[in-house]
Amino acid sequence: MSFTVAFPALEPRERYKLLCATIVPRPIALVTSVGRDGVVNAAPFSFFNVFSEEPPLIVLGLQHKPDAAPKDTTRNIAETGVFVVNLVDEGLAEAMNVCAIDFPPQISEIEAAGLTLVAGLDVAAPRIAQAPFALECRRSVSLAFGPHRELLVGEVLRLHAREGLIDPERLRVDTGAYHPVGRLFGDGYARQRDRFELKREMYEEWRASRCDR
Ligand SMILES: Cc1cc2nc3c(=O)[nH]c(=O)nc-3n(C[C@H](O)[C@H](O)[C@H](O)COP(=O)(O)O)c2cc1C
Repeated sequence: MSFTVAFPALEPRERYKLLCATIVPRPIALVTSVGRDGVVNAAPFSFFNVFSEEPPLIVLGLQHKPDAAPKDTTRNIAETGVFVVNLVDEGLAEAMNVCAIDFPPQISEIEAAGLTLVAGLDVAAPRIAQAPFALECRRSVSLAFGPHRELLVGEVLRLHAREGLIDPERLRVDTGAYHPVGRLFGDGYARQRDRFELKREMYEEWRASRCDR
């Protein structure tokens, strides 16, 4: 028997469970940002995706802490208006997970995770040297949805790629060399080892292939 449930009747925790277990896998942005105090921060966000290419926009879903205080990432971006999205591959997954730990202020998550920072070219936030791709971004707009939630839209100013991942002439990503990791629910993650292709047809091709049967 199929199942249906109306969302207004659910507790937020139950909605989270259903949304995060069904909308999978989600790409992971390991966001580096720097506050007014100069302290660099890195934290993962899987409420993340590309939104458009003209203008080139990405979106991040930033949840505040239980006392409604913004996370360090959110506060830093509010203060400086810039950040870097470092994409996460299999080699970076464990370090990404270390960055999600709520360390006391005297401990740098970047050091704890063994990550190396490289200065940004267009923004005053560094990227992570180990990341397969890094997007230097400027905040376009952020929208508050109640006291605990912010939707941040960022404009991509520059892309960095690790050597061997992009053909610089044709701007083609080598999909055989890029091994991104996706977030599932809870502590679950997915590799992309089982890809397949579906050729997108014109209407005429689709009609012709149906008539051939
Ligand atoms: C894989 C993964 C994805 C996450 N996605 C989000 C997210 O989309 N939004 C969010 O607010 N927190 C998310 N978190 C939790 C934050 O990474 C975590 O609260 C982090 O400590 C925030 O760090 P900050 O205070 O240094 O910004 C995620 C954690 C993990 C491990």
